[in-house]
Amino acid sequence: MKITAEQIKSRKTSKGDAPIAALTAYDYPTARLLDEGGIDILLVGDSLGMVVLGYEDTTQVTMDHMLHHVAAVARGTQNALVLGDLPINTYNTPEQAVANAQSLIYVGADAVKLEGGREKEAEINAVINAGIPVVGHLGMLPQSVKEEGGYKKKGKTQEQVEALIDSAKCLEKAGCIAIVLESVVPEAAQAITDAITIPTIGIGCGRTTTDGEVAVITDLVGSYPWFVPPFATPRASVAKDIEQAIQGYISHIGKKV
Ligand code: KIV
Repeated sequence: MKITAEQIKSRKTSKGDAPIAALTAYDYPTARLLDEGGIDILLVGDSLGMVVLGYEDTTQVTMDHMLHHVAAVARGTQNALVLGDLPINTYNTPEQAVANAQSLIYVGADAVKLEGGREKEAEINAVINAGIPVVGHLGMLPQSVKEEGGYKKKGKTQEQVEALIDSAKCLEKAGCIAIVLESVVPEAAQAITDAITIPTIGIGCGRTTTDGEVAVITDLVGSYPWFVPPFATPRASVAKDIEQAIQGYISHIGKKV
């Protein structure tokens, strides 16, 4: 049974609900495996720019990239909510946000995610008023890496915590179905989770401080060994398995290396 946006919106661990399990997916076979494995949300994140397309950050990702990958993930998904990321500079005005969100829905997304808090209120309102479920994204915002001069942990000062809570309440009021919190210190993540009635989905915030967790699939399965974030817990070693398979193949065909 397809998980709906409304079902996600009502999942709060403080009510005794099970934590939301979300993972990124960028292609058909991975989506199908994760969907059949019982994952609630498949996020076609713009992290695909780094872990699939080989760019140094997410600022090179375009709508064309996203449409191609959202469509592939949607073809492999029966039950999970397919969440498509709006890439950088595709939601600078309410009209642009609605048009691009509609394109993601057209190719198979069930909801869209965009980065930013109160400063994105007009764009978020417009997308929700167009009937498209929105997941917010607060804390460390990868699309701002160039302005910020790196990936910085958030929620370290009282001022930051207050601004994060203010933005979270703004997103809740706008009607977002959930908020991704990225790289927020655990105490601040807990305070945000407690301040709102929609679920928070954490990455790099400590496991029990949010109503669910999202991880990048390549971190989880160890298929992108060149960079693993410090908070990631690899649970497989796919890169090592590929290396072994290659060596087995080379010796099978008798090639001397
Ligand atoms: O693009 C992405 O994969 C994300 C997650 C890190 C939350 O936004």
